[in-house]
Amino acid sequence: MEDKLELLKSKSAEAELGGGQDRIDSQHKKGKLTARERIHFLLDEGSFEEIGKFVVHRSSNFGLDKQKILGDGVVTGYGTINGRLVYVFSQDFTVLGGSLAEAHAEKICRVMDLAMENGAPVIGLNDSGGARIQEGVVSLGGYADIFHRNIKASGVIPQLSAIMGPCAGGAVYSPALTDFIFMVENTSYMFVTGPGVVKTVTNEDVTAEDLGGAQTHSSKSGVTHFSHPNEIETINALKNVLSYIPQNCEDKAPQKIYSNAGSNSEIVEKLNSVVPENPNQPYDIKDVIALVADENSFLEVQKDYAENIVVGFALLAGRSIGIVANQPAVLAGVLDVACSKKAARFVRFCDCFNIPLLTFEDVPGFLPGTDQEWNGIISNGAKLLYAFGEATVPRITVITRKAYGGAYDVMNSKHIGADMNFAWPTAEIAVMGAKGAAEIIFKKEIKASSNAEEKLKEKELEYADLFANPYNAAARGYVDEVITPSETRKKLIRAFDMLKNKVATMPKKKHGNIPL
Ligand code: HXC
Repeated sequence: MEDKLELLKSKSAEAELGGGQDRIDSQHKKGKLTARERIHFLLDEGSFEEIGKFVVHRSSNFGLDKQKILGDGVVTGYGTINGRLVYVFSQDFTVLGGSLAEAHAEKICRVMDLAMENGAPVIGLNDSGGARIQEGVVSLGGYADIFHRNIKASGVIPQLSAIMGPCAGGAVYSPALTDFIFMVENTSYMFVTGPGVVKTVTNEDVTAEDLGGAQTHSSKSGVTHFSHPNEIETINALKNVLSYIPQNCEDKAPQKIYSNAGSNSEIVEKLNSVVPENPNQPYDIKDVIALVADENSFLEVQKDYAENIVVGFALLAGRSIGIVANQPAVLAGVLDVACSKKAARFVRFCDCFNIPLLTFEDVPGFLPGTDQEWNGIISNGAKLLYAFGEATVPRITVITRKAYGGAYDVMNSKHIGADMNFAWPTAEIAVMGAKGAAEIIFKKEIKASSNAEEKLKEKELEYADLFANPYNAAARGYVDEVITPSETRKKLIRAFDMLKNKVATMPKKKHGNIPL
């Protein structure tokens, strides 16, 4: 028995050393942690149980058969984060560059299958040179096996990907199929083809960082949802996101204990002075969110991308909610292609996982112009409309100021299934803004007037009085109540509580055909 225990000990130590101390040192020199160190920081202390530690690769080309490194370049298993079960795979760059081959892929598939069967999130920590060249098509098959599981798991369990090194070629499509991507600044990158191929094909000179680094994907492409300066912050951010989302699609959104509900401290006087007197003056919708949500609870998603819409998680009286808000401080909060896609995906995530949705609306309409039309604002705007319209979670809208044109319908109106709509007295709900409307409908009167400018002003005011207010919508019941801004938090706490047992279904179908 002694001998056998010794053998087990030495094999375990061998597996834990991965590709060897030299390669671990070189990983550290790059500012990167090893696969096991990442798991250590991710999971509750002592909770990790490894699966497949002694698996070896099956490559027999180019001399690889002589290097039987245990684990095949990926550490897999399960553990807990704040006491909640999660499954994890962590690619080990020290072993053949974390490259993916048959046994490596099987290990990942195994934890994904277990995550699905047991209804818990799966977290991928990616650091890999891509398909293992020595295993050829078997590696490609391994990727496709993972992709298929990503697709089947979508909407069933949360899937989170952290990119902590290279992620190139077809390998990018597994993270892209998951719910949230986290990237580490300066040490991670994602691209379909690297700078060398780009130079050959398009003659562009570009660095890996510019082509597919964290900064690029958080601000230009929107591929990543979060980026952080180092691995520890990235791992902590991932844990924080998990705290807002349930274990699976059958589970309720997290609800922390909250004892203050409904008391007068829910009245927030500062909200009465957020919206400026002048309707054309911007304000920061994040100020409204911060005042309405529980203190410091707002966690913004894709904060540097399509900033004219703000999306993220927050707590309201301890209840996890998703927030979608037009941002008047950026492009006047107009809806365009990028922000429609960003918000649509977030709405669908929340709906998948039973997270109630709160919308703040201040939108002058859709952005006009050839750029937007040629880039498909029609089908992209329709994505957001579709996403809201199919969501069956509790849905509430607060119209703070402008709700113009088609954008009024799109931004979670009651007509497309919102449960409650509140409007502040500053709300302007109409077909278009006062100036544009007056110019069209009073065209003849303005033309005939001796002082056209004066007449336009007068007609603008007349129009604003008649149409650009919340009372026409409230008279029809499209708005449930016009409320004092300071009451917003209290009203929302009560309304979401009232809706907590909501049951709503969509017509029976295989699946809808969202305008992708
Ligand atoms: C086998 C690989 C490998 C790979 C790296 N290694 N990538 N082994 N297959 N794909 C090995 C190296 O031989 C080396 O082994 C070790 O990993 C570390 O690699 P280095 O090159 O020394 O590291 P670094 O300088 O940091 O460069 C990392 C890298 C580079 C940029 C990732 O290794 C690289 O360009 N690799 C190839 C990337 C690639 O083209 N992959 C295929 C993409 S297509 P030793 O023994 O020396 O330590 C793809 C298709 C997926 O993935 C299809 C899905 C549909």
